[in-house]
Amino acid sequence: MSAYHIQSLEEYFNQYRKSVEQPEVFWADLAANHFQWKAPWTEVLDWDFTKPEVYWFKNAKLNITENCIDRHLESKGDQTAILFEPNDPNEQAQHISYNALYQAVNKMANVLKDQGVKKGDRVCIYLPMIPELAYTVLACARIGAIHSVVFAGFSSTALATRINDCDARIVVTADGSFRGSKTIDLKGIVDEALEQCPQVNSVLVATRIKSKIHLETGRDHLLESLMSKASDNCPATVMDAEDPLFILYTSGSTGKPKGMVHSSGGYMVYTAYTFKNIFQYEEGDVYWCTADIGWITGHSYILYGPLANGATTIMFEGVPSYPDFGRFWEIVEKHKVNQFYTAPTAIRALARQGNEHVEKHDLSSLKVLGTVGEPINEEAWHWYDKTVGKGQAPIVDTWWQTETGGIMISPIPYATPTKPTFATLPFIGIQPALMDDEGQEIQGKQVSGKLCIKFPWPSMARTIWGNHQRYKDTYFSAFENKYFTGDGAIRDAVDYYRITGRVDDVIIVSGHNLGTAPIEDAINEHDLIAESAIVGVPHDIKGNALFGYVCLKDTEVRPDDAVIAKAINGLISEKIGPIAKLDHIVISPGLPKTRSGKIMRRILRKIACGEGDQLGDISTLLNPEVVAEIKEIVGR
Ligand code: PRX
Repeated sequence: MSAYHIQSLEEYFNQYRKSVEQPEVFWADLAANHFQWKAPWTEVLDWDFTKPEVYWFKNAKLNITENCIDRHLESKGDQTAILFEPNDPNEQAQHISYNALYQAVNKMANVLKDQGVKKGDRVCIYLPMIPELAYTVLACARIGAIHSVVFAGFSSTALATRINDCDARIVVTADGSFRGSKTIDLKGIVDEALEQCPQVNSVLVATRIKSKIHLETGRDHLLESLMSKASDNCPATVMDAEDPLFILYTSGSTGKPKGMVHSSGGYMVYTAYTFKNIFQYEEGDVYWCTADIGWITGHSYILYGPLANGATTIMFEGVPSYPDFGRFWEIVEKHKVNQFYTAPTAIRALARQGNEHVEKHDLSSLKVLGTVGEPINEEAWHWYDKTVGKGQAPIVDTWWQTETGGIMISPIPYATPTKPTFATLPFIGIQPALMDDEGQEIQGKQVSGKLCIKFPWPSMARTIWGNHQRYKDTYFSAFENKYFTGDGAIRDAVDYYRITGRVDDVIIVSGHNLGTAPIEDAINEHDLIAESAIVGVPHDIKGNALFGYVCLKDTEVRPDDAVIAKAINGLISEKIGPIAKLDHIVISPGLPKTRSGKIMRRILRKIACGEGDQLGDISTLLNPEVVAEIKEIVGR
């Protein structure tokens, strides 16, 4: 039986055992038999977590786009590769076949080459969820350029930071984007960002909303006209398995975003393998992941994983609430979706709308329901299971991270019995460990600790762009010889894992990772503000909401609190994006600090959550008196 397709719990345990006992044999078999390589590896795995350095399929050569596109042309050239569902339900969906995808990607690759883009160059992609986004990502991969997709909801400042961090010279964008009933002026945002990025000498602009835009002579070009002139034949560049494929930025608990670098070979093998099994994708199925390609979920499970399996993958431009809250279910019915993958925040928002939107539609095509991005609460899990899946479509609660590249802990549907709120078992090849505060691994069952991974897996990020030391400090320093995830977890009586949430200063809001430091930095830029602290408080739909404490400088003018609050959210939108706006803002007389000056967020979090009577001993603080004052102001 093929190790590539796992269909029972017994088979899972067998393959899992092999993957742990003989990882090199296991992965070499899988990689050799299910992918196209241009030259074999000389070593399957070479690793040292103390440096940290990890090499998979050393010296092997490949091009991931040949695996995702070219090799499917003969058997399924006319099959839909990408099914584009536009924001407006009255606009026709676009079925992009593997043949058409091949042509568009080759053309786009030639357009990039004409702009001077070479292997190893960074291409910043700031596009909405339109086919050009997929074409550009894959075109970069075809010519060995490193794509850096920036979610098109980020502000101009956030975009500029990301362009400059990886020194991209070219940006691919669109005139604008549709988002529900609104349009967003993407080109305007890019123009503003580029004022801070003098090195960018080429901007390619896709036409989507057909708005009047400014085109800077010599720098800006309309993509459509370049594409129409480009040849549809671009030989795939030979890539080393360890050559970087892309950079994707994720928030950290301090300062600037971290540009996680993923490489080609291992990432391809692992995303393809997990996709096949965790979604049990069968020939002819229609798969839909509602994420944006601006996040890792879209990279791995809209594009690379599905395409490497020759799947039909939906790309949805719109939002779940437009034109009404039945949109997701309408799309499931219309395209007879078999696997549906979304975030708990969307599930909660849709559940709140009642069942009638769901019940209007025939969802009987659904075979697997997935969730990702944050812990799913029990109520949302049951609603998803009963109302959407009618108890017939197993839920895969998939835990993973931008850094891990692919799904790490998840049930295999129809094999692993599910348990609400538990991501269940590690995927094949993944060796989790729970650690205590003394740095010891916690053995046994019914225990909780900090979640680490103790052995490399093929799709792990290899470094942080331009800052390997930060990579080491963030992930490999907390626990010796282990990758530290930043999450806490419990392991139950049958070795199932439940992720309990972040144990660092990252807060997950609506499934988006937000570091407290960049938000605080943005707030502190306000002239009247001396310092600030952000904490997360539980929120019915978003999972967490942001609660900010801000301290004013000692000035005589004190504007109205509402005016300050508005200015703060304005600053955050400008510096980071609207996703990081605060739900609650309290003007605070001070912040509780330790004697060494560290802000005691734990105390601030408790007060914000209405647990101000459970603070424990605060007498050792530098300024214990401020706590009572804050409690009174917050009044929770
Ligand atoms: O805290 C975990 C949470 O999301 C974090 C990773 O966020 P990001 O890099 O943006 O990637 C999200 C998509 C893979 C994790 O450290 N997280 C992700 N999936 C789950 C989860 N928490 C609980 N359950 C999950 N299924």
